[in-house]
Amino acid sequence: MQVILLGTAAGGGFPQWNCWCPTCRAARLDPHAAHPRSQSSAAISADGSHWFLLNASPDVRDQVQQLNGHAPAGNRHVPIEGVVLTDAELDHSLGLVLLREGRSLQVYATDAVERMVTEDSRLLSVARAFADVSVTRLHVGSATPLRLRDGSDAGLTVEPFAVAADPPRFATRAELGHTVGLIVTEVATAKRCAYLPGCGAIDEALLARLAGSELVLFDGTFWSNDELIRLGIGERTALQLDHLPMSGSGGSLERLRVLPGRHRVYVHINNTNPVLLEDSAERRAVEAAGLTIGMDGMRFEL
Ligand code: MLT
Ligand code: MN
Ligand code: ZN
Repeated sequence: MQVILLGTAAGGGFPQWNCWCPTCRAARLDPHAAHPRSQSSAAISADGSHWFLLNASPDVRDQVQQLNGHAPAGNRHVPIEGVVLTDAELDHSLGLVLLREGRSLQVYATDAVERMVTEDSRLLSVARAFADVSVTRLHVGSATPLRLRDGSDAGLTVEPFAVAADPPRFATRAELGHTVGLIVTEVATAKRCAYLPGCGAIDEALLARLAGSELVLFDGTFWSNDELIRLGIGERTALQLDHLPMSGSGGSLERLRVLPGRHRVYVHINNTNPVLLEDSAERRAVEAAGLTIGMDGMRFEL
């Protein structure tokens, strides 16, 4: 199984267009001090040539370029087989409408996420006006096989599980499965990748689930709980925004460092997070704990 981190920043990207916080400032003034990052998404494949997107970010147009292999023979070539959604947040679903030129689009989503991108944000409804969209329903707690566009088996299954989170702020109601983490399993090898770009808490059940994955891609939105408040750019804490901060007692760093998984990588990193600075104490603390700060273009072979 191969995994590519297509985008490792949270919504807004890094630097964010309207932000001059210390980390965005550093990224603009010296890209060596902090590398720019696009918005959160990953690609996964059993064979290294047929790819599924994990979420469709607003930066999908540039991101999918990384998936093009040899020049195709025909005039059109769609380098993705489908999109698996974890939720209906804009940074994870705006790319659905940007993929409309593909003419046909396979989407894998829970009932709740499908309803939200159809009725609440209407992004899927808009995409449907341009492309033939088929949705395969995912069920919390059960594994669904991924299929290539030609209907054949992709060699991967995906199992969603509920994570601690509120629904997106535009959602008209909260339903089970509105925000999930994913376990993608390669059928031939039983190797697993866990994908949780948004997660507000880690309990023992979640830790046990993550312990079975060779690669854990986890919510790295904020370093500290009061990050936005201290910078004067938000009123709510990380936990109020459903993102477990990395630092502090009970933070994700303390929780994830005990996992035996080979790779534990932070993704969905907010532009305010000091771990984005290549030479920060926070970056060193993450690396000393054996975890990795995700970068666009990082590849993993499991
Ligand atoms: C989040 O990660 O909390 C959401 O993407 C927020 C947003 O879209 O503004
Ligand atoms: Mn987000
Ligand atoms: Zn910023």
